[in-house]
Amino acid sequence: QPEEPRYLNFKHSQPGSGLNRYSSTLTREHDFPAAQAMLYAAGVPNEHVLKTYPQVGIASVWWEGNPCNMHLLDIGKEAKKCIEKQEMLGWQYNTIGVSDGIAMGGEGMRFSLQTREIIADSVETVTCAQHHDACIAIPGCDKNMPGVVMGMARHNRPSLMIYGGSINPGYSKLLQKPINIASVYEAHGGYLYDSLKNPSDPSQTKEDLLNDIEKHACPTQGACGGMFTANTMATAIETMGLTVPGSSSTPASSPAKMRECQKAAEAIKICMEKDIKPRDLMTKKAFENALVMMMALGGSTNGVLHLLAMAGTAEVQLELKDFQRISGKVPFIADLAPSGKYLMVDLFEIGGIPSVQKLLIVAGLLDGSTLTVTGKTLAENVESWPSLKQGQEMIKSLESPIKPSGHIEILYGNLAPNGAVAKITGKEGMKFVGKAKVFNKEHELDDALNKGQIPRGENLVLVVRYEGPKGGPGMPEQLKASAAIMGAGLKNVSLITDGRYSGASHGFIVGHISPEAVVGGPVALVKDGDTITIDADNNRIDMDVSDEELKQRLSEWKPPKMPVTRGVLAKYARLVGDASTGAMTDLF
Ligand code: FES
Ligand code: MG
Repeated sequence: QPEEPRYLNFKHSQPGSGLNRYSSTLTREHDFPAAQAMLYAAGVPNEHVLKTYPQVGIASVWWEGNPCNMHLLDIGKEAKKCIEKQEMLGWQYNTIGVSDGIAMGGEGMRFSLQTREIIADSVETVTCAQHHDACIAIPGCDKNMPGVVMGMARHNRPSLMIYGGSINPGYSKLLQKPINIASVYEAHGGYLYDSLKNPSDPSQTKEDLLNDIEKHACPTQGACGGMFTANTMATAIETMGLTVPGSSSTPASSPAKMRECQKAAEAIKICMEKDIKPRDLMTKKAFENALVMMMALGGSTNGVLHLLAMAGTAEVQLELKDFQRISGKVPFIADLAPSGKYLMVDLFEIGGIPSVQKLLIVAGLLDGSTLTVTGKTLAENVESWPSLKQGQEMIKSLESPIKPSGHIEILYGNLAPNGAVAKITGKEGMKFVGKAKVFNKEHELDDALNKGQIPRGENLVLVVRYEGPKGGPGMPEQLKASAAIMGAGLKNVSLITDGRYSGASHGFIVGHISPEAVVGGPVALVKDGDTITIDADNNRIDMDVSDEELKQRLSEWKPPKMPVTRGVLAKYARLVGDASTGAMTDLF
């Protein structure tokens, strides 16, 4: 722990002891009459309200071109109404966000991860600049959740999150089965390798099938509905106590999502009254609980990066080895997409996340004593919640799990001295040995896949490098490649990268290799034909190249030219740190 708080210390902004202790800087007497004039203009009805009501910022990551975010303004409006009922002022504002699904088109993906920092910067900036007493954040898509929580941890004023919620599943009439966003990516792989077929009607072309899947995969508002990154982060954050119970599993289109705003308004008032601040909740124990939930549900590898960054922001010591420790002891019990068959809306129907928390608290895996935004502990919150529905098959018992330990494996070795993150559900085995085939940048691999140039037969380890936080820049996701590999049924390949994977990815994949290639990490030194061994039993990732040979290769290695030197990605590449510490931009 640092001796002194390293964030700006708002000594002058804490004159009062009421709930409006920050905003009273503006509203007491006539120290800042211009501020008061502007607040009246914005809708404050009278002096009593101005002088006594606390001011709550409502930060939604609203924008309309994406199902994950399109409804967040409406949730914000409802939250504002509920805040006003509690005799508080609610001020809505937005931060930017991007859709991972849409950014995935080519170079757009490089802009995705850094939006987490822009969102955190925005929430910190508006809360502090506008003297808000509290903060309610309403995120939807992947980077939104860690972004708003990092912002909350920085300003550290009473805060909570209302998750936008999951999308409903779609239905393909042609295939006569439910589909979701992962079905689209995989259908694309099948399309490229001519294996997209309807077994019950061979007359349908692959164009017909892909068109049908595209049109019907996303029928409503809401974030990608499996245990992809958005739901991984939402469930982790709820388990850390930063939402009211049930927020992460309440579907985006359900009336219960709107009703949640009332509970959130009550909770934020309790946080202000009891002075419960984000960093009071974001303790080491709370992070460990988040990790337990992530392992039990089979969360996305992006969760590793984001939880490290959230902890780093809250100045909590959380390291890669904590993920391995907890993954080693928590059974993987949820049959959720992408590796399983159910979606978050299905989990809502059988009890939702609080019912899963209840199960894990009883089993002694979750520590129920951690504080939450309701002012009660996690255990108290779920006490009266129903247990998982009798006869359900989605959440397995801890005695007969899908896998006795978690699916996240932290690997070290001469390819990743600072660590790498693998998602290994065991379906594809625990060990993979193959010959390296190296791609500098993702598009080289995409081209090879599009041309059907990855041979079947001999085991291959496809190495995609110069795609780390600095090198990408922006650590883009390799979803297209991993999904195309699954879709094409290429069982002889494993994919490793210093970039990331989408939460919708599965298969034998390793990401976040660090140090990254662009700073001279050993992944930069791999050559075609080197033998690479990925051994999840022993948590190793190695190439069979001697230390002397690696030294020799390093002496001949030259860092590539940065692909951008101006604009937001150039700034990002300069500031961003190693993936093994969360790829943060304010850690110097
Ligand atoms: Fe937004 Fe998947 S693209 S959650
Ligand atoms: Mg994603």
